[in-house]
Amino acid sequence: MLKIDRSQSISNLGASVSGIDISQDIKSEDKEFLKSLWCECSVLIFPNQKLQHKDFERFSLIFGEFGEDPFIESIDNHPNIIEVKKEASEKASHFGGSWHSDWSFQQKPPSATLLHSKIIPPVGGDTLFANTILAYEGLPNSMKKNIDNLKVIHSAALPYADDGFYALEKEKDRSMKIRPSKDAKKTFIHPLVRTHPDSKRKGLFINPVYSLFIDGLEKNESDALLNDLFSHMTQEEYIYRHIWDENMLIIWDNRVVMHQATGGYDGYDRLLHRITIAGEQPS
Ligand code: SIN
Repeated sequence: MLKIDRSQSISNLGASVSGIDISQDIKSEDKEFLKSLWCECSVLIFPNQKLQHKDFERFSLIFGEFGEDPFIESIDNHPNIIEVKKEASEKASHFGGSWHSDWSFQQKPPSATLLHSKIIPPVGGDTLFANTILAYEGLPNSMKKNIDNLKVIHSAALPYADDGFYALEKEKDRSMKIRPSKDAKKTFIHPLVRTHPDSKRKGLFINPVYSLFIDGLEKNESDALLNDLFSHMTQEEYIYRHIWDENMLIIWDNRVVMHQATGGYDGYDRLLHRITIAGEQPS
């Protein structure tokens, strides 16, 4: 029987789910329950799940179709699984180390991301999640009124362009298969305040990696407003710190959380497998 522990964090993020074996077929009523729990808690954690690639893929498909993962090569024969990886000897910075929501520059960014841990270092390497709904609700009414109808330009240029961070980084020993491209300069415009399609709650759909500027504002005004909002969104009260064990699966609602990988594990390997699930155009 499924057992749920919702006591993960003051930020209302995270429920730990036990009493389930993800390597086996899941009953339809449990699938429906997990989808609604994911919508309610935004981050679900499944400890002690030893998974083959096919198990990981099958479980992911409960939450929707596979998403499209640009700029990173998938693993052999599994076009929807990528490795999030850093080797013990690697000098390159850890992947995903700044606040972001996955692929927010796409026209239809992923609704969900799933990570399955394979090798976890004995120290460091936690993942932080920020609740963008609580952050929106915590803003003064005057600010909500100011931003409610703004739109933001997103692009993958900063990390992934052919003259972006990964293309120009000094350390050349990165083990992750990142493929910078001029396509990363494409832009998409999304509402700054996004309504979750199921819960109908509003959240701040911006992040410092992909949200470049606010449409219609001068650059200095846009930078100032975005920076104020980023500082607001990353306050302790909105954050859940996930501490990994090996064979742990987590899924988060990429529409209403930002996340950030932390470092602090130089000299140790870290390896997780990642799948994204296709989403809808933000509105
Ligand atoms: C990511 O941003 O997808 C990676 C998160 C992590 O490595 O903890």
